[in-house]
Amino acid sequence: MSIKNRKKDHVELTVNSDVFYKKSSGFERYDFIHNALPETNLQDVHTEAVFLGRKFSYPLFISSMTGGYSEAGAINAQIARFCEKWNLPFGVGSQRAMLEDPSEIESFSVVRDAAPTAFIAANIGGAQLTGGLQNDDIDLLIESIRANAIIVHLNPLQEFMQPEGDTAFEGIEKGIKQLAERVQCPVIVKETGAGINKQCAEQLLRNGVKVIDVAGAGGTSWAKVENLRDRQKNPLHNFNDWGLPTVDCIVEVNELRKRYKFEMIASGGIRSSFDVVKSLALGADFAATAQPVIKALVDGGPDALDSLMETWHRETRIILTLLGCRNIRDVTRNHLVEI
Ligand SMILES: Cc1cc2nc3c(=O)[nH]c(=O)nc-3n(C[C@H](O)[C@H](O)[C@H](O)COP(=O)(O)O)c2cc1C
Repeated sequence: MSIKNRKKDHVELTVNSDVFYKKSSGFERYDFIHNALPETNLQDVHTEAVFLGRKFSYPLFISSMTGGYSEAGAINAQIARFCEKWNLPFGVGSQRAMLEDPSEIESFSVVRDAAPTAFIAANIGGAQLTGGLQNDDIDLLIESIRANAIIVHLNPLQEFMQPEGDTAFEGIEKGIKQLAERVQCPVIVKETGAGINKQCAEQLLRNGVKVIDVAGAGGTSWAKVENLRDRQKNPLHNFNDWGLPTVDCIVEVNELRKRYKFEMIASGGIRSSFDVVKSLALGADFAATAQPVIKALVDGGPDALDSLMETWHRETRIILTLLGCRNIRDVTRNHLVEI
């Protein structure tokens, strides 16, 4: 099956089917400590957050999703306009399709026209780096969208569940190291929902990676998505719940701060403003989300996406005020209790 059809399946299934982990991301293990005397005024509370030296209106990265077929271009343009309007960073989906078929470049490059000043990240799979990507290809990934960063996604579990998946993983680490040496922009490495633990994060940081997006379990299960595809004749449902809960990844990876300078994105099952603020309290610099964005956009269009963001923004300001914090960076582990 072509990449194009696979990417179409992914959007269709993540919007219309139950593709979620049974296990939770772990945020319900923590509660905010209510402060009845916050001594803070809502009007003085702000949600701006800094990521890779740039100020954004809210600590939410819109995770990499799509591209590589014409309808994906329309989705990408809408996400781009949304991020330009709200001053949020975002990533395009895997650009492998455009390396294989240059006629698909436009479904990605459309984001830069729609979001001339936004922070946009390119995206390629770790599996594509095993043989070392050609320099021309790397330049094309970045230049086609004038990317501010490049994301490498690691998805060994998903590859195993795909009938057409790549299952040769040797050499990905070296490929990431070469990429980090080669490109001018920061390299971000993410999972796609099975999580990055402390040991894996350390390997990545030693190889020049600047940002770890833990992308843990508790949200979209990519094993489940692949097992539900029509083309899947031999689903392996036992793997549907495989992965490290997001909260465990955040807490573990945060321990590396003593020895490495890096930024951490919390993602995988971020489903509310409460999850965003808890992520930051547990040590992440930023949060990211995928499925709620594509669901809102496909079901309700740009207005639904605006409304989702308005709610998260409003709730976050209330949470901060109730905690007695004026800014996102004032939130700490001391604002949470384990329940
Ligand atoms: C429709 C869709 C397509 C996706 N395609 C990609 C992709 O091309 N590259 C990538 O790195 N992650 C991709 N992802 C994974 C997300 O970026 C994210 O890591 C994962 O879905 C977990 O986050 P969530 O629980 O908020 O959905 C995709 C997610 C969705 C919903």
